[in-house]
Amino acid sequence: MSLAFRIIPVYLIMIITQLNSKKYPHNYRKVIYGSPAEITRYPFVVALMINALDRNDGRFSNETQFCGGSIISHTWVITSGFCITKYIIKHEIDPLDWFVRCGTTDWQAVPPQKYQKDYNVNDYYVHIKSRYNIVENFQKIHLLPPELPGFDYDVGLIKVQGKFVFNKGVSPIILAGIKFRYVEYTRCGVLGYGRTATKKDNSHLHVAKLKIENYTVCKEMYRNIGYTITERMFCAGFLEGGPNSCEGDTGGPLFQKFREALVLIGIASFSKGCGQENFPAFYTKVSKFQDSILSYANETRFYD
Ligand SMILES: *[C@@H]1O[C@H](CO)[C@@H](O)[C@H](O)[C@H]1NC(C)=O
Ligand SMILES: *[C@@H]1O[C@H](CO)[C@@H](O)[C@H](O)[C@H]1NC(C)=O
Ligand SMILES: *[C@@H]1O[C@H](CO)[C@@H](O)[C@H](O)[C@H]1NC(C)=O
Repeated sequence: MSLAFRIIPVYLIMIITQLNSKKYPHNYRKVIYGSPAEITRYPFVVALMINALDRNDGRFSNETQFCGGSIISHTWVITSGFCITKYIIKHEIDPLDWFVRCGTTDWQAVPPQKYQKDYNVNDYYVHIKSRYNIVENFQKIHLLPPELPGFDYDVGLIKVQGKFVFNKGVSPIILAGIKFRYVEYTRCGVLGYGRTATKKDNSHLHVAKLKIENYTVCKEMYRNIGYTITERMFCAGFLEGGPNSCEGDTGGPLFQKFREALVLIGIASFSKGCGQENFPAFYTKVSKFQDSILSYANETRFYD
């Protein structure tokens, strides 16, 4: 992994999901009320990793997981735009200094797990249509002026250095295509690493079973607290509260199963709290981005 830390301009922007979580990194919560999962069953999941800031002297020390992502081809990972921008904004860490850890059920396992492998980041893109009204496409974060996109168009791509070697623990997932229908009340699953509601400092992959929730109701609930909900988002979880993704799961996969194949339908994007009553989490609709994704990750496969 790269140990050089390039300094890039600090952007003084507040991010809504960060308002309640200013400490770093110990308050990142993960899949809550889920159960442990094996990478061989979900070989597309990756952990986005950085070398953690030492809270005492501000220097970098051990590696830590901060977001999730999904392998979509030999060189590309899909995640949320927020995952790509957040450490640039808060800590001036260039994404080229992170790494992607694939093939692992437990990112902290010693020795590393059988299929586990780390890849440096070669390139990264976030979607910035939200603020700039440009063509529906990705643009390098390097080019962004010091404003952040909101949660709309919350999608990003990471290109790794080298190529993923596919095996039982590492393989790409098919993405929901442009015609995909998000059917309310159908079952889905969300995956993420790390701490859970009950266990602290857990670095094991977890899965939680959810359902796609009623968009109209979710939209109204979030609108009441000032969020703008768009057609590029859907909500999943339970209106009554309970299992869902949480902050450290951002960027990770929400999937549905079709004829034994798992299909990536959403990217964990944001929520008010975690698993709170009336506030299921919102996910980015990957189906809306088929063309943008294909213009970069041209081997990606889609499901309609
Ligand atoms: C980093 O990891 C090593 C080995 O696991 C451990 O001994 C050390 O205390 C850790 N340092 C910090 C700052 O967490
Ligand atoms: C979602 O909730 C709204 C408002 O309660 C309701 O009118 C609508 O029928 C619900 N959608 C489904 C698919 O049940
Ligand atoms: C994908 O893009 C690469 C690099 O531009 C190119 O070499 C390759 O032929 C393309 N593959 C397809 C299926 O279009």
